Amino acid sequence: MSNKDSLFQRFLTWLRGDSKSIKSRFFHRPLERLDLFVSTNIKGETYTEWYRRRMNRMASISNKVNKPVSQRYLDNAKIQVEYMKHKGMMPASKVLEYGCGILRVGLHLVPYLEDNKYVAADISDLRVEKGVRILKEQGIDPSRYSTVILTDATAKELGDDQFDFIMAHDVFAHMPLDECESCLVSLKKYLAKDGQLLVTFDVSDKPTSTNAKDYWFTQDQIARIAAAANFLVEEQLDWMDFKLPTQETQRMFRFVHPD
Ligand SMILES: C[S@@+](CC[C@H](N)C(=O)[O-])C[C@H]1O[C@@H](n2cnc3c(N)ncnc32)[C@H](O)[C@@H]1O
Repeated sequence: MSNKDSLFQRFLTWLRGDSKSIKSRFFHRPLERLDLFVSTNIKGETYTEWYRRRMNRMASISNKVNKPVSQRYLDNAKIQVEYMKHKGMMPASKVLEYGCGILRVGLHLVPYLEDNKYVAADISDLRVEKGVRILKEQGIDPSRYSTVILTDATAKELGDDQFDFIMAHDVFAHMPLDECESCLVSLKKYLAKDGQLLVTFDVSDKPTSTNAKDYWFTQDQIARIAAAANFLVEEQLDWMDFKLPTQETQRMFRFVHPD
């Protein structure tokens, strides 16, 4: 490659930025930010209501083109199950997966747990429907677990259930801090007295958001929202032995009741 070519390549890489695409950086991302701004500042929607529409739109596109789910993506969810076992989960434990997506955790968790101990909750009905289909294809009957579709951060649809474990993997990394705080406050009443709420965050030295739906928080910010929701919180360094090496900035935090 000539010097001229390599300079041009470097210029292109610089133009793409962290979006890795010029179209995404200068068209999709700004458009999505504008859509979020209009929804939350003009139409009066909450962030979660906006994100719910976004997730359903993406799911509907992927359903239309019948996009296959990669086996590696499904297999990677095993680490979440292994981690909860490491934290004391037993077959009789009651587990809520908050932000279950296409139920890839359920695929590995339902066979381990006693029947009706796994509740999978998400704001996107289309993603959950897809997940139920995937589990059925793997021979897991829907009567062995429950799904709940949430409409906003209050999670009111969960009713009176209480859980020994609540896992929210890669969910709080996709909402702004005030929405994370609202979700924590809501989840408090669903956590059993000695239960553990396990949440991953993307952590950085300074608050960062590269687009409308990806957020990095500082340890101090996480401590602040935990205190506001009246939770004790502690980073779980043992997650480093489980997490994927590609999830560089992802950290695991355990929230428990103060007494
Ligand atoms: C990146 S996916 C992760 C899915 C799953 N936890 C996993 O590891 O396979 C994030 C999921 O969180 C859901 N989600 C986002 N905000 C939520 C909220 N406030 N309550 C429940 N689910 C939410 C999204 O719809 C999406 O399915």
